[in-house]
Amino acid sequence: SDKNKTVFVCRECGYESIKWVGKCPACSSWNTMDEEMKFTGSKGAFGQLPKLSSPVSIKDVKFEAGKRTTTGIQELDRVLGGGIVDGSLVLIGGDPGIGKSTILLQTSSSLAKKGKVIYISGEESIQQIKLRADRLEIAEENLFLLAETEINNIKEAVVKYNPDFLIVDSIQTAYNSELTSAPGSVTQVRECTAALMGIAKNTNTTTFIVGHVTKEGGIAGPRILEHMVDTVLYFEGERHQSFRILRGVKNRFGSTNEIGVFEMQDKGLREVSNPSELFLSQRPVEGAGSVVTASLEGTRPILVEVQGLVSPTNFGNPRRMTDGVDYNRVSLLMAVLEKRVGLYLNNSDAFVNIAGGVRINEPAVDLAIAIALASSFKDKPIKRDWIVMGEVGLTGEVRSINRLDTRLKEAQKLGFTKALVPDVSSIPDIEGLEIYPIKDIRHGIEVVLGG
Ligand code: TYD
Ligand code: MG
Repeated sequence: SDKNKTVFVCRECGYESIKWVGKCPACSSWNTMDEEMKFTGSKGAFGQLPKLSSPVSIKDVKFEAGKRTTTGIQELDRVLGGGIVDGSLVLIGGDPGIGKSTILLQTSSSLAKKGKVIYISGEESIQQIKLRADRLEIAEENLFLLAETEINNIKEAVVKYNPDFLIVDSIQTAYNSELTSAPGSVTQVRECTAALMGIAKNTNTTTFIVGHVTKEGGIAGPRILEHMVDTVLYFEGERHQSFRILRGVKNRFGSTNEIGVFEMQDKGLREVSNPSELFLSQRPVEGAGSVVTASLEGTRPILVEVQGLVSPTNFGNPRRMTDGVDYNRVSLLMAVLEKRVGLYLNNSDAFVNIAGGVRINEPAVDLAIAIALASSFKDKPIKRDWIVMGEVGLTGEVRSINRLDTRLKEAQKLGFTKALVPDVSSIPDIEGLEIYPIKDIRHGIEVVLGG
């Protein structure tokens, strides 16, 4: 390795040093020196200037919408915005063991029907990958495996074998031998990602990168990685649960609110085309505190079960816990229940959970949370044919939500016959579904729990 190719640059003031120093000589900050590749292009007054590009009238700019290739995995295509844009760089992040290598091996197999795929692994030997492939029943002729971690070798392999699709598993194992820092360090992650971006764009090779999530929840190399790539997808799920959710976090070529749902089986990941069915499959026959609501994930409505548990506090401060919904939102809804409905929850522990480990961020889930808590508090179950949806305001009013009809249609499709919804001017008419519009939460509780 050639040490003269790199330089240490202070993150705070930009001071450059040939050697690493703990304290920046210029601004006196500690531990701010990052190793970087030296800029080798000619610069300065006497150097040759790079070729100047000329401005183009906006009228004359030709727009070439990136061609999309469908991966053959619908749940992935959906999150990508209808397929993968050729030459783009996609990062798949997630906890170790969640299934990133599995989904990318399955994707590789699918893509190998359309072009040459090279799957580069720094985590497993090619024999280990073969073992996994056997289990997944993958044996495409056009899928090539390579165990390699050095980024210049990876670049060379791409130039030499010219694949249409490239998988790099993982960015944490990739390194540039010209840098002294260890694989996985911020510097290495940044350099290798930049190199992969260069490869993807210059050779028009569609590239997937795997990134392990650190304990703090960010992909190693802080947010840097996310800023550099075109698309960021997170693969989530509970270890002890079999289903996995693929969520778009950033997408230069589409929206980011779609999710893809998969189930991990012994022969790999299976697409779940009707998530509502899966999420409701373990619903109790009739339990107090269980309420079903319809959440909109991107363009798709998904039914989920909200569970609330209220029990008297034994000693000390009441405990509150949430899983899958915002903690502060639940606190607020409990205050509303107390103040506007007169439910005395002050001396109660309260737990709210979305069954199956799904996470819901939209306020349309409010009414279901409030009713689940009320149902548990009163120890009165809600009949199984009810679906509940609406946002709840501070005065206890039930507010409108978007795409009410889409949500209600999904509910009807799954056999629900009664819907508690916000009282809006245009209530959709859906066959087989009795709709109960309500203006405030107190009224809502009366309707489903009988006062
Ligand atoms: P993996 O794709 O190796 O995770 P990551 O690359 O994100 O670290 O998935 C590992 C887990 O998935 C492992 O615990 C075993 C399980 N698994 C299955 O249940 N079925 C399968 O067919 C495969 C390949 C893995
Ligand atoms: Mg892996």
